[in-house]
Amino acid sequence: EKQGFRHYMLKEIYEQPAVVRSSLDTYINLNWHADENPDYSPVNIGLTPDMTDNLEHIQIVACGTSWHAALVGKYLLEQVAGIPTTVDYASEFRYSPKPVIPNTLTIGVTQSGETADTIAALESERARRVNLDPKYHARLLAITNRAESTIAQICDCIIDTQAGIEIGVAATKTFVAQTMGFYFLALDLAYRRQAVSNQRISEIVEGLRQIPSQIETILDTQADAIEELAHHFTNETEDFIFIGRGINFPIALEGALKLKEISYIHAEAYPAGEMKHGPIALLDNKVPVVAVAMPGSVYDKVISNAQEAKARDARLIGVTTAMNATEAGHTFDDILTVPEVDEIVSPVLAVVPLQILSYHIAAIKGLDVDQPRNLAKSVTVE
Ligand code: M6R
Repeated sequence: EKQGFRHYMLKEIYEQPAVVRSSLDTYINLNWHADENPDYSPVNIGLTPDMTDNLEHIQIVACGTSWHAALVGKYLLEQVAGIPTTVDYASEFRYSPKPVIPNTLTIGVTQSGETADTIAALESERARRVNLDPKYHARLLAITNRAESTIAQICDCIIDTQAGIEIGVAATKTFVAQTMGFYFLALDLAYRRQAVSNQRISEIVEGLRQIPSQIETILDTQADAIEELAHHFTNETEDFIFIGRGINFPIALEGALKLKEISYIHAEAYPAGEMKHGPIALLDNKVPVVAVAMPGSVYDKVISNAQEAKARDARLIGVTTAMNATEAGHTFDDILTVPEVDEIVSPVLAVVPLQILSYHIAAIKGLDVDQPRNLAKSVTVE
């Protein structure tokens, strides 16, 4: 069943191009062309007008890796669709009532569809709004991998992420698929609200359509070098720091979570600009720093934050594009190269080398990659 892969996690990392292809095939409207000024949406996610009309606010609840996908989603919903969006841990949201805002879409993100906190957060949101004026009523959307799950049943609509069953406890392909779900939602809402031009929508769709082959390029050209690099961190490394900014800050968080879950190495992630406000005190030559430095609006800022880390003797690993690799070579000790990409779609690529790095560190250490200690695939208890 592992089809020749040593672990399910590795198999699932390699399934990502197919998962992204399948979600594009399912949701992107191939007949849509910006210059024909179409009067229908570029994506077919099937949201009814009562879910999307007059939206003033979006709130997202999730846990763990799904929470990271939600953070990428927040960036897209705000920057592309122009809708103020909040992201909460489901376990916090359910006990921290917020002021009720009218015309709110509430999204639960969960690969299993059975996470107890996420279900409870959505149910409590429905309950507290039910007796209010209709404009306050809950509109619940699930982004999930399981169309038959509890979350799918309690929500009004779902985006089925098309990832297929994931067996490895460390989420990989479901993260990428959930993130794709947010691109589709943001594009649909951006189109309906005319928040960005059709031309820009078209560029983002084009960027997404390149993703499957670009992930294949990473798998084909980087996997061996990343495995080689992983050997440096399997004996004495006790801590890692991940940094990123903007739409790639959640990728730093996800890189750190993957590493701690399966390799048991302590890892923290910070927005790169926060380092000087405290965490930089942790750095010395024993603490590697991984900087997600994708070209775009904050590239120079991330590079200068990374250089500050280097000045404290940290071993610096950069995730960046081939075109920037030479220039970045002066900054980074090691480079995990990803193909050239529009910043807006870059998280889906940047996460892949970090998944592979965590995988190899854990595998070389001889740990149980697919069933890490103390963790379960579905967290169905509070
Ligand atoms: O099934 P869910 O997406 O709701 O699960 C949420 C978290 O428990 C999950 O993402 C967890 O953090 C993973 N083990 C991450 O790899």
